[in-house]
Amino acid sequence: MIEIRGVSKVYDGSRPALDGLTLDVRAGEALAVLGPSGSGKSTLLNLVAGLDKPSAGSVTVDGVRVDELAEAALARYRRARIGMVFQFFNLLDDLTVLDNVLLPAQLARTARGEARSRAAELLERLGIAGHARAFPGRLSGGERQRVAVARALMNRPPLLLADEPTGALDTASAADVQELLTGLNADGQTMLLVTHDTALATACATRTIELVDGRIAGSTTPRGLDPGGGGAPAGTGLQAPEGSRPELGGVPSRDGHPGSQGFRHGSGTGGRAGR
Ligand SMILES: Nc1ncnc2c1ncn2[C@@H]1O[C@H](COP(=O)(O)OP(=O)(O)OP(=O)(O)O)[C@@H](O)[C@H]1O
Ligand SMILES: [Mg+2]
Repeated sequence: MIEIRGVSKVYDGSRPALDGLTLDVRAGEALAVLGPSGSGKSTLLNLVAGLDKPSAGSVTVDGVRVDELAEAALARYRRARIGMVFQFFNLLDDLTVLDNVLLPAQLARTARGEARSRAAELLERLGIAGHARAFPGRLSGGERQRVAVARALMNRPPLLLADEPTGALDTASAADVQELLTGLNADGQTMLLVTHDTALATACATRTIELVDGRIAGSTTPRGLDPGGGGAPAGTGLQAPEGSRPELGGVPSRDGHPGSQGFRHGSGTGGRAGR
């Protein structure tokens, strides 16, 4: 899914933020990137998101050479192939929860009815349907982050990126978001998450790497993927039985990833809509 080859990033001639990094992330993995402040974690995420260009090396995501894309193609790439979640949510405070979640579909010119049924399904699955007409300012941090995750997943991106998704949350909300992300990965969502939260990394990641001075200094596999690859890791307890996948309106994805997010959160996060 992600192939990073010999990537360096140098900002204004100083010590490189990334130093010859080579890294693969397979479909179905949840890779957590740990490491001290300034070690290059956000830089790595930004290169994968196409928000910045490497000084050397190549970044390929889902078959696309992200580092070679021009602006218009980059915008399309970000719309269709990745979803991003940030530490401070980055929601638009003068839009309702529902309109925040609908925004990526509007940018992708998804038909209105199709977008609305997708949004409704996501809000329901993430336990925030009761807040659809509220403004983000009225929600708790954990609820806001759920809205941000719903927005990130709106266009069914093959890859979810998160930079410190629990960094601004209290312990209970962080546990909530941790459970949500773990469940999404159990349902097959590939993700790359940068975090200082070792509880999150241990619970959610199939693999962790530690960056130090822009290089990989170590790695662990808290929840290894089965060798077949691509499938959901075992043992999360969040997968509903086969055949129970709720239908997301049968909306085909425009980029060849039909319904890749199963959202089978029967036991994980589904029962919270009324909170
Ligand atoms: N836009 C920029 N211009 C100049 N230097 C930058 C820029 N962005 C990052 N850097 C530098 O690159 C290095 C890596 O930064 P990065 O933000 O990737 O670290 P990080 O691991 O995400 O740290 P943190 O845990 O504090 O978020 C740092 O030395 C930082 O100062
Ligand atoms: Mg950072």
